[in-house]
Amino acid sequence: REAGQERSDSPADLEAIAEAAEMLRAGDTVAFPTETVYGLGADARNTEAVEAIFQAKGRPSDNPLIVHIADRAALEELVTDVPAAAAALMDAYWPGPLTVVLPLRPGVLSPRVTAGLDTVGVRMPDHPVALALLAAAGCPVAAPSANRSGRPSPTLAVHVLDDLAGKIGGVLDGGAAGVGLESTVVQVQPDGSVAVLRPGGITAAQLAAVAGDAAVTGASAAPDFTPPQEAAEALNHPAPDAAGKSSPAPRAPGMKYAHYAPQGWLSIVRGASPAGAAKTAADLLASARGRGETTGMLLFEEHLPLYPAGAADCVVSLGPLASPETAARSLYAALRRFDEAGATYILAEACPETGLGSAIMNRLLKAAAGRVINAE
Ligand code: TXA
Ligand code: MG
Repeated sequence: REAGQERSDSPADLEAIAEAAEMLRAGDTVAFPTETVYGLGADARNTEAVEAIFQAKGRPSDNPLIVHIADRAALEELVTDVPAAAAALMDAYWPGPLTVVLPLRPGVLSPRVTAGLDTVGVRMPDHPVALALLAAAGCPVAAPSANRSGRPSPTLAVHVLDDLAGKIGGVLDGGAAGVGLESTVVQVQPDGSVAVLRPGGITAAQLAAVAGDAAVTGASAAPDFTPPQEAAEALNHPAPDAAGKSSPAPRAPGMKYAHYAPQGWLSIVRGASPAGAAKTAADLLASARGRGETTGMLLFEEHLPLYPAGAADCVVSLGPLASPETAARSLYAALRRFDEAGATYILAEACPETGLGSAIMNRLLKAAAGRVINAE
């Protein structure tokens, strides 16, 4: 039966977890909560089950999936080597929002999981429902974020159903995801340094605290991003197909796709001062509205007074600038709200690229296909 879907408004209980584990073992797909975002799981050894993930998400088949485990002993079966720096990072941050890319042990996982690569990304999520599900399933579980490809990642069970109802076996409801952004993906390089393939819930400073400052590379918000367009260009609402240009050879294959995109045209406004950015944004929103656009504004709480009343049809706050944790937790739901409001022209304030701010700006830049308007 379509188990789990009717449970989506009650928290996952032990019975639901056992049922979901049974579905995974039987080759079905099940969405489940993690501390980062909801994942869409399937038995990583079962090619048909893994194919059902790609099918449900509409995900390009060259984009590998992260494999989730509930205990460190499960790693041995999956990989041939764990470099010292990788082991130290797992000691420090597992369970947690850290995915470690390691050399694949051939013959265990479906080749569809790794998209033919000779490496595999492995993660131990820090969520009681996820850990209970993985333990009960007793198999490595491949799980990308449980959204339709190109949509913001789901931070609530209802987001999963909005995107995937009828296409998956079910969803375990664990309430709101705590971090709200995906895991940090790292890979230890031959020289022992730690390359950040995707910034996420574990910050560059947290990595450096374990691996050493000099040893962490590529941790900026958008290491593999196309250069931002100039303000003048961004003033003219470009055709939607200008979005999602790919960048040269990103190291995490998934980073090359236009992700997290709201349906409207989104651009980031960066200013020398918050007041300057707000003035530019308010002017752009007013002229967009004059063209008949439905407008949206994504901002930080303390900047709200800098905008005229009704500056946009839909104004969403990411919370205080001083709390990047709040912004991370609210970002994807905010992007989904613009879709619900039918926003066609959306501006977002930039935030400082420190700590979790790197991951926030990475996702915002992707959602905006790299468009940044530089204000006074
Ligand atoms: O927080 C998360 O990581 C969530 C939850 C569900 O665990 N999962 C997630 O999966 O974000 P997904 O598929 O949306 O993103 C996986 C990212 C992609 O950018 C993919 O290219 C990269 O990890 N990746 C996976 N395996 C890789 C590998 N072997 N080498 C390099 N990058 C890899
Ligand atoms: Mg994803």
